[in-house]
This record gives sequence, structure tokens and C-alpha cells, in this order.
Amino acid sequence: MTKIAVVGTGYVGAVVATSLASIGHQVVGVEIDRARLESLQAGIVPFHEPGLSELVTAQLEKASLSFTDSYETAIGGADVAFLCVGTPPSPDGSPDTTYVENAARSISEWITSPMVVVTKSTVPIGSGRWLNDLIADDRASVVSNPEFLREGTALNDFLHPDRVVLGSNDPGAIATMVEVYRPILEQTFTGGRPDLRPGLVRTNLETAEIVKYAANAFLAMKISFINEVAMIADAVGADVTEVATAIGMDQRIGSSFLGAGIGWGGSCFGKDLAALRATAHRHGVESLITGAVVAVNDHQIDFVAEKVSKHIDLAGAEIALLGLAFKPGTDDLRDAPSLKLARHLLDSGATVTAYDPVVGAVSGMDDLKVAPSWRDAVAGADATVVITEWDEFLSINLAALAESMDGALFVDARNAFDAAAATDAGLSYVGVGRAAPTS
Ligand SMILES: NC(=O)c1ccc[n+]([C@@H]2O[C@H](COP(=O)([O-])OP(=O)(O)OC[C@H]3O[C@@H](n4cnc5c(N)ncnc54)[C@H](O)[C@@H]3O)[C@@H](O)[C@H]2O)c1
Repeated sequence: MTKIAVVGTGYVGAVVATSLASIGHQVVGVEIDRARLESLQAGIVPFHEPGLSELVTAQLEKASLSFTDSYETAIGGADVAFLCVGTPPSPDGSPDTTYVENAARSISEWITSPMVVVTKSTVPIGSGRWLNDLIADDRASVVSNPEFLREGTALNDFLHPDRVVLGSNDPGAIATMVEVYRPILEQTFTGGRPDLRPGLVRTNLETAEIVKYAANAFLAMKISFINEVAMIADAVGADVTEVATAIGMDQRIGSSFLGAGIGWGGSCFGKDLAALRATAHRHGVESLITGAVVAVNDHQIDFVAEKVSKHIDLAGAEIALLGLAFKPGTDDLRDAPSLKLARHLLDSGATVTAYDPVVGAVSGMDDLKVAPSWRDAVAGADATVVITEWDEFLSINLAALAESMDGALFVDARNAFDAAAATDAGLSYVGVGRAAPTS
């Protein structure tokens, strides 16, 4: 058992803290947001992440997990401190490291015994070195341990990762971290299942830091690539879903992240691409691919909007959006394509009513109506646009949906529906890059 402090208990920190407690460590989460802290102390997770509330409650009851706003309580005597605070983008695209710096300063004030400080936050390449200097305590070593969890499946991703990456210039600090991760590396809590054992990459600080950016840039690139193919498929009358299936069967390519649609969103891809680009620029390297990946993704909003405006006049139109969260399984609206499309449609004179199974309101967009059910959202609509492929939408009775709309236009911006079934239900189906019967 290791005594662990997790600094910042948002989408990542809450999962890291709770998961580490569940595999046998003694964990204290440090949080400065009072509302978030009180909620977690009461066992209530203040955002949507499947299974997390139950695990938080169980670990609180076992007293293996607690939450505090006191660095003294959390850091004093801890062996390891994970930095899980946010790194939002600055205006020039480089990550704002203010939260990381503040947290590191607070940690350095309360170190009482040798400890490893772990950057779990996605930090700019080179941060590990200045953090080592900032903490400036012989008793602390920095390890970069990038996190690859996905919101919506975060617990599973953390506890059964594909790989654990540990970067440090101090072999002793890496050895400490291998012990922290041993239950995950050996999957002891699953009976040691060999198929679930992750890879372990031991490397230096800079390499570990760039791994996270390279991984996210590559995933975003796959999506932008297939979206570009979707545009070509639309133009020539091909079906991009079948193209994706066929190229995905090639093991060198792989089938994941080849879903054409309205594009990627969320708090990480855009920010991490901008950060990688800014780093390249700072070092005199021209990053052509990252620029293209972002440009294609930005264009995808217009591409979907045109699928609506080609069939109906946006001015005065009633448009229903199904889904607001940037992907199913989360309530995260950071950089969500839904809000960009809604803004585009609203600015073109449409009335937009959205429904999402877990997002009940959108702050800062007063002209976007949010309905309590999909039925309310689509009632009287001229067009329905599917933005997030929630399971709830996939089981919608399309004939009932067609019945309650005024118009018939059904834009499937995630290619989640069977085109023929939608057409049979009386809808005018339009997918993204699909040679659908009526598109
Ligand atoms: N969200 C993801 O899917 C994901 C995945 C992998 C990596 N990351 C990276 O992890 C980091 C955190 O992301 P997130 O989505 O959890 O952010 P978040 O904004 O949800 O959480 C950050 C938390 O840190 C708290 N905080 C800020 N300063 C603090 C301080 N000095 N002391 C204690 N608490 C403090 C905030 O109040 C907030 O609760 C980012 O760098 C992000 O890029 C995110």
C-alpha cells in the first residue's frame, strides 16, 4: 500500500483517486473547488461517469479514500502526489500551466518526506524539467505518467489500460511508480488475467510527455482522415461506412476511430493538437499534419450544416438536435460539435431545440432550447440532426419520430442509423459520406 495524494479531482483526478484506492492504496484527493469537494465528500460525483459514484461511495466507506482542501493533510507523509489539475489552452494554443504551477508550489510547501510528484495532467513537453526545478526539493522527483482514459469508460480504461507510460530521469522514482501500478500491471484484482495486462514503457520525461500528444494527435488524425474521405464519398456516390469497414480490416490500419461524422470534440483533442503544434513551432519544426487535422474538423461543422440547408431554408426553420455531449457516456460539453453546429444554425435564423440524456442545460447559450425528452425536441421540427450516438437514440421508433415532425429531413451526423430503415419509416435520410437511398 502506498500513501497517495491526488491533486485536482475533476474528470481525471476523481477516477485516478478512486481507482487507486480500489486497488489497495490509501488515497487523499485534494480539491480547491468547494462545491466539487463537498459533493465528493458526500459520495456524489458532480459529473456523469458510469460506475464512478458507486466506487467512490464504496472506497469512502472503506476509508481508503477521502477528499480534502488541505494540502497539509494530503501531502504530509504521502509517498506519491499525482497532479490532475486542468491545462486549458491559452489564446496562442499553448497549454496554460497556471493550475499545474500553483498545485506544484502548494505541494512543495508541505513535503515532509521523500516523494514522487507525478504529472497526470497533459502538460507541455519540457514541463517535467521545470517542475523538478520549481519543487526544488532533493526529496522529490518528477515522473510523467500520461493518462489515456476516455470519459464514459474511464474506470475501465484506467484499471485495464493498453499501456502504462512512466517517464523520469530518476530510476528510483520509476521503481516507486511500478509498485503503485503493480496491481494494474499484473491485473492481480482480475486474478492475473494475462490478456488484460498492459504494456509498460519506461522512458525519460520528454518522451513520456510527447507520447500523450502524439497519441491524441494520431487518433484525431484518423477521424479527420475518414471525414475527408466521407466528403469525397458523398461527391462520388460511395459509402464511407463500407470504406471504413474495408480499410479497417487491414491490421496495419485498424478499425477504431474510423467513424465519419460531425467530427471530434471534447476537452483533449483540440487542445493537445494545438499544444503539439505550438511546441513544434517553438522549436522551428513545421507541423503540417496537425494543422490539416484541425482544418478538416472545423470544416465538418459546415459540411453537416450544409446537409440541412441544402434541403430546407434555415431562416425560420425549427431544428431538433439529438445529443449535446461530445460523445456518449459523458456530460462534457467542452469543445462539443453540437454547440458549434447549434451556433451556426441559430445564427442562420433557425430555432434549435436539443435533447440529451444527461445534459439538462447549456450555460452561455440562452437561444438554444433544451427539451426534457427526444419527443419534445422533435415535435413539430422541420429537420432532426443526430449529433451524439447515445443508445437511447438508437432504440427510437423512427416511424413515431417521423410522425411527430413537421418535415421529414433526418440528418444522421454520426452515421449511427440504418439508412434503409429510416427511409422506410418515412424519413428523408441524409448521412455523412453515405450513398443512402434518399441522400
Ligand atoms: N478529461 C479527459 O478525458 C482527459 C484524459 C486524459 C488526460 N486529461 C488531462 O488531465 C488533466 C485534467 O483534466 P480534467 O478533464 O480532469 O480537468 P477538470 O477541469 O475536470 O479537473 C481539474 C480539477 O482540478 C481542480 N484544481 C485546479 N487547481 C487546483 C489546485 N491548485 N489544487 C487542487 N485542485 C485544483 C479543479 O477545481 C478541477 O476540479 C488535463 O491536463 C487534461 O488534459 C484529460
